Amino acid sequence: MQNLWYKNAIVYSLDVETFMDSDGDGVGDFPGLTQKLDYLAGLGITCLWLLPFYPSPNRDNGYDVMDYYGVDPRLGTLGDFVEFMHKARERGIRVIVDLVVNHTSIAHPWFQEARSDRNSKYRNYYVWSDNPPPADPKHIAFPDVEDSLWDYDDKAGAYYLHHFYKEQPDLNIANPAVREEICKIMGFWLELGVSGFRIDAAPFLIQGIGIPDAKPEDLEGFLIEMREFLVSRRADAILLAEANVDADQIGVYFGNGDKMQMLFSFLLNQHMFLALARQDAATLVEGLKILPDAHHTCQWLNFVRHHDELTLDRLQESEIQEIFQAFAPEENMQMWGRGVRRRLPPMLEGDRQRVELVYSLLLTLPGTPMLRYGEEIGMGDDLSLEGRGSVRTVMQWSSKANGGFSSAPADKLARPAIDRGEYGYQKLNVTSQQRDPNSILSWMERAIRTRKQYPEFGSGKWKIVATNEPSVFAHSSQQNGNTVIAIHNLSAQPRTITMKSAEDPHLLDVFSDRPYEQMDCHSNSIEISGYGYRWFQVN
Ligand code: GLC
Repeated sequence: MQNLWYKNAIVYSLDVETFMDSDGDGVGDFPGLTQKLDYLAGLGITCLWLLPFYPSPNRDNGYDVMDYYGVDPRLGTLGDFVEFMHKARERGIRVIVDLVVNHTSIAHPWFQEARSDRNSKYRNYYVWSDNPPPADPKHIAFPDVEDSLWDYDDKAGAYYLHHFYKEQPDLNIANPAVREEICKIMGFWLELGVSGFRIDAAPFLIQGIGIPDAKPEDLEGFLIEMREFLVSRRADAILLAEANVDADQIGVYFGNGDKMQMLFSFLLNQHMFLALARQDAATLVEGLKILPDAHHTCQWLNFVRHHDELTLDRLQESEIQEIFQAFAPEENMQMWGRGVRRRLPPMLEGDRQRVELVYSLLLTLPGTPMLRYGEEIGMGDDLSLEGRGSVRTVMQWSSKANGGFSSAPADKLARPAIDRGEYGYQKLNVTSQQRDPNSILSWMERAIRTRKQYPEFGSGKWKIVATNEPSVFAHSSQQNGNTVIAIHNLSAQPRTITMKSAEDPHLLDVFSDRPYEQMDCHSNSIEISGYGYRWFQVN
């Protein structure tokens, strides 16, 4: 019996910095997060993904690490981290942490030594060139700020490689000493009890673009080395890669069940938004069908939004425009011509029924669902903040100052709170939603509870169920003799559908957007409201 816990986890992603501030300095911290563990357990969360919390100059929201073995003093101490891990374990909540090893911060002592001394052992931890080739613009991650993959460092007397900001020099993954360091970092956090790692920027890590003489086979082989090391230290730990790649590249990351156990489902996510914009089920079906078959131990991590822009770069230009038109019509809502910098509810103009529809899809599509903090209460964004900052405002706990996130003066917060309008904390917060049985939070708790009772959705063998309505997406999933079916109406008009393949199924309603009349068990014609959803157990 294998322990495939991640196949039916309920994952929640958060940034310690913006979740809960316990000491009033304006910055979220580990003691604050620890206080909120009962809230998370009550919501039904079983696994947290923590964004980088390591010491960092914070050029890129902590994705520029200057010490892999510590906690940023703004967020607490290593002791606070261990207390948090202990309390999370008591509540049955696992923790996975970000492993940001495509690059370090420029302030990392390795880089400081490397640039100061050509003979330092750290020189070869990075990638240098006297004469770098011109950059292919499609390899530049942040095109509004950077125009090259190489920057000249006076002290080093050479150019160094960086795929992201120039303050994030790329590590030389072709150097065995760097690979050893990476394993050592994993070993450290595993020893402190984490259940795995999110591998940041995985394709950049292993494609080796810019690294002279790097052989792709060798670099890809590092994913196997990481996995072997991981399970040698902790058998049930997982690797989750951030790899937004085309379908034909997915095998590079899943391997034959010997590399990453999980991948973020970027392709499905982008197809889902296109399907929502078009109100067309076939687009979603296509998103599922392009995914290659993977080893039975591999799993997709489904999401609606995360801390970055909603990237649409796997779609055609005209398809991106369809999504922009539907959900981000103004230029200020878009990013880099390929992404949306909004949270979901504002994209849907606050339409509660449609918001539920999307989270119902998240919870039933094949894979493991992930929520990002604030999604459970329908938090909005602040487009007056620069770039991806729009979706990184602090968690809204109550109607108190700063949404109850911190007692510091508002201008001292690590990131602002949304303090006006429909999405302001005065109106939209955890406390008021906990009092209201009809709130989105109450809905989410019930949805998660139901989803946990039907693990077939996460890990069963899925099939598309043909219907007579192009706007209705229907699929079934089967495991250990149990079958579930979910139907989603992507259009605003109510529909009555006929499921073409069902052999006289006896369907039991387990979750839906409203109470429906019990069906005659010998009919397979099913009613569904506009933007409605229904989950069934097949008897
Ligand atoms: C990943 C992170 C993003 C970060 C980048 C560089 O894409 O999600 O936030 O800026 O890596 O580390």
